[in-house]
Amino acid sequence: MTDKQKTYCLINYGCQMNESDTEHYAGQLEELGYKPIADYHGADVIIINTCCVRESAEKKIAGKIGELKAEKRANPDVVICVAGCMAQKDGEKLVKKHPQVDLLLGTAYVNDFKRLFLEYLEDRKGKIYTDLTIHQSEFEGHMVRQSPFHAWIPIMYGCNNFCTYCIVPYVRGRERSRSVENIVAEIKAAVADGYKEFTLLGQNVNSYGKDFGEKDAFAKLLRTVDAIPGVERIHYMTSHPRDMSEEVIKAVAEGEHICEGFHVPFQAGSSEILRRMNRGYTKEKYLALIDMIRKYVPDAAITTDIIVGFPGETEEDFAETLDVVRRVGFTSAFTFIYSKRSGTPAAKMENQVPLAVKKERLNRLMALQNESSLHCHEKLVGKTVEVLADGPSKQANVWGGRTRTGVLVLWPVEDKKYEVGQKVNVLVDTAQTWLVKGKAVD
Ligand code: SAH
Ligand code: SF4
Ligand code: F3S
Repeated sequence: MTDKQKTYCLINYGCQMNESDTEHYAGQLEELGYKPIADYHGADVIIINTCCVRESAEKKIAGKIGELKAEKRANPDVVICVAGCMAQKDGEKLVKKHPQVDLLLGTAYVNDFKRLFLEYLEDRKGKIYTDLTIHQSEFEGHMVRQSPFHAWIPIMYGCNNFCTYCIVPYVRGRERSRSVENIVAEIKAAVADGYKEFTLLGQNVNSYGKDFGEKDAFAKLLRTVDAIPGVERIHYMTSHPRDMSEEVIKAVAEGEHICEGFHVPFQAGSSEILRRMNRGYTKEKYLALIDMIRKYVPDAAITTDIIVGFPGETEEDFAETLDVVRRVGFTSAFTFIYSKRSGTPAAKMENQVPLAVKKERLNRLMALQNESSLHCHEKLVGKTVEVLADGPSKQANVWGGRTRTGVLVLWPVEDKKYEVGQKVNVLVDTAQTWLVKGKAVD
């Protein structure tokens, strides 16, 4: 008699770094012979990979963990593992509140998951791992990636910036970079598996390699990855405006495969708010950086993150944020309402902005940004763009994919057959706020 096939279900929240960690958990479970299932009911292992960057994320995740109480009752042998940033932050408190959780794994144990999981299976005694000082950096093992052609590649972990609103440095620990050799080996292995598009990940990629004491290490890494045969597109995120250097912009301008999308979060337009956020630049410096990007890469698509309602933000401060949006013309922006994170300096600042004011500012900001997105997309009408096909869209007989700068493109398939990851040239004829449409031309 053969054993029943063991199954796992992964539920991921949060940023690309978490998606990448989740792909690593999947890789380790598959090495142990587990197979994925989409619905957690009846799974042998459930991992919830958590985020705590804003209160709204935490509430949603707490609801999901709560749901699993019924699953544990129905299926007492299931191993419930809560991993990631919220696990790191709340540790034992989280397990006390949700006793159905068997294994709690902070953010530094991703590489070690397989060993800790097998140890758990030996005695089935609940365990909590939240030590951040073990500082893993090199990647071992293999990933089970979500996409067949695009790969997340973490190049560094942690953050040293301590922006005063942000919880990430407390839950991800200090910056540590992977070695160039370790990164290149992962990319070469992925190319051999058919991958062609790569996103290099870090909370602040521009400080890559500072822990090795190397100057311009990130620009050099970009050039090294650009030269790997088979690599077709390179993206990277996130760039901190304070650390983004001319060398990196030159590498993008000169590199054949390094895409022209620049994700440079500015967070707020008022220099006084930026100072209190501990961002290390002013409005003028940010705008000068954008000018430098446009000088070297005239068709750059610039995207950003913005927070409204930081403590003490006045109407005049907010007007400076709108001014930056107007001047730069971002292709898209992630816009957030400031969320108080206990333990961060901003949580203790006076003059917290009332929720109604924050919401009203967010609405005005989004309306302005939508105009800007539409305007950027209108510039593509009449042009032929290179798209990597993601697959069929929600509409029948229409496929979707992304340009080198991340713009979503839809086109009718007509009688042609496409493959996921295929390069398709599309002549754009229609621009909308969130996407463009056109016809395939070859
Ligand atoms: N390291 C990246 C991303 C950090 S988290 C960076 O520095 O840009 C992604 C975004 O979440 C941030 O850019 C910021 O805009 C937002 N964010 C972080 N903390 C927040 C908070 N307390 N409230 C609202 N938004 C927040
Ligand atoms: Fe948070 Fe700032 Fe670090 Fe980004 S750079 S993760 S916003 S502390
Ligand atoms: Fe990412 Fe959320 Fe952690 S944004 S780093 S998963 S707090």
